[in-house]
Amino acid sequence: MRNPPERYLQTLREHFAQAPQWFNSGSNSEQVAFKPATGAALTTYQDGKDTAFQRWFHFKEAFSPEFVSAAIASLGYRPTHVCDPFGGSGTSAITSQLLSINATTVEVNPFLADVIKAKVSPLTAEKLLSAAADFHAGLQDTPADLSRLAHLPATFIEGEGKDRWIFPHDVACRISQYLACIDAMQDADVQRYFRVALGAVLIDCSNVYVNGKGRRYRGAWQSNQPTAEKLDLLFSQQFNTSFEDVLRFERRPRSRVTVINGDSRTALQQVDQQADLIVFSPPYPNSFDYTDIYNVELWVLGYIGSSADNLTLRNQTLRSHVQIRRAYDGPATTSSTLNAVLDALASRRESLWDATIPEMVGAYFRDLELVLEQSHRLLAQTGRVMMVVGDSRYADVRIEVATILAELARGMGFGRVSTREVRQMRASAQQGGSFQLAESIVELTL
Ligand SMILES: C[S@@+](CC[C@H](N)C(=O)[O-])C[C@H]1O[C@@H](n2cnc3c(N)ncnc32)[C@H](O)[C@@H]1O
Repeated sequence: MRNPPERYLQTLREHFAQAPQWFNSGSNSEQVAFKPATGAALTTYQDGKDTAFQRWFHFKEAFSPEFVSAAIASLGYRPTHVCDPFGGSGTSAITSQLLSINATTVEVNPFLADVIKAKVSPLTAEKLLSAAADFHAGLQDTPADLSRLAHLPATFIEGEGKDRWIFPHDVACRISQYLACIDAMQDADVQRYFRVALGAVLIDCSNVYVNGKGRRYRGAWQSNQPTAEKLDLLFSQQFNTSFEDVLRFERRPRSRVTVINGDSRTALQQVDQQADLIVFSPPYPNSFDYTDIYNVELWVLGYIGSSADNLTLRNQTLRSHVQIRRAYDGPATTSSTLNAVLDALASRRESLWDATIPEMVGAYFRDLELVLEQSHRLLAQTGRVMMVVGDSRYADVRIEVATILAELARGMGFGRVSTREVRQMRASAQQGGSFQLAESIVELTL
């Protein structure tokens, strides 16, 4: 896409017979026809580095805007409220806002919740430009102060006697200056925008990289470490990229978007407004803990200040991993497929890399059952739930997540339940790596 912000507009046009009028006039139109275009592709994941808003923070597991707009269009009527209990980087929230639809999203990770809030908040280019000028002036007068980062685990900052560190001393000093200037900002929306932009470049200014397997040191990192100048350069580039989207979409409709930073298993109880579409992709039961993947941002930006905070956050995440010991209970509703899976896993306990995997798998479905109970309560008569879920496999036992969820949903009183496979994904190394696992969409109506 030569002009990346256009991608959102194009996406929305492709999926709706008539694009919202504000695309052309800049006015907040109430009258938007919601007719799905025929043959709209249903893709879930894509590389978002060139897409407006997706490029504010690299989030590999994000929905594509196409998926969210197609899900909205598939309702066949204009929804008043869209809900996403697993917000991630906020694709459902920002897409709904661009379409002038109210949205509620829940995200457990406080940094990611801020990424979503930054995208949907009423920022203006003018405010950001003036804040950027103050920020640059402030940086000159702000001394480095590593006591700001004193809470970080020992491996984070270079120091005497250490054999590895995530940030060189100079970069850490510069980060401390950035944090001091960001903390001094008065406007909460502007402050969040700067914090998210800093979060977006931290890993690229460190000695590590992060992928689905966790955090690794770069090859030959000792001889090729980032500098404070690199941080300045990447931060200003990130600021400009996100700024381009703020500017381009400044006159978009400001529908009400509520971002709840919390655990959707309980936080959904706070939501009262009925939802026409409840669309989400929960973590898959593949032992991947998002708390680990976004750990550098959480610690450096001060969202977690101690290992106790880290543990609290892990406990609030869906029981899709065995990184911490927790109480495990299974779903209240019966699923014959789940029962067979749990029996098969229990009989192979000796060959599992963690003996509690069978209980974790049961608890994973209990957690999704809690989310589905709330979805059932919130769903409008004419609305639908759309879940994107992925299978998993442990010791040759395939966890057919879509099939199990469909059985649970029927038992919970959803009227029409359907599943369809959308993609084959490669299994993670811990799961054997060499075979394919299905990713599916589960659709539910009352
Ligand atoms: C697959 S991602 C969602 C991506 C999202 N659809 C997007 O477009 O960016 C799953 C998200 O669920 C979040 N999560 C995990 N446990 C949660 C919980 N108990 N409540 C709310 N969010 C949770 C993770 O932090 C992660 O951001």
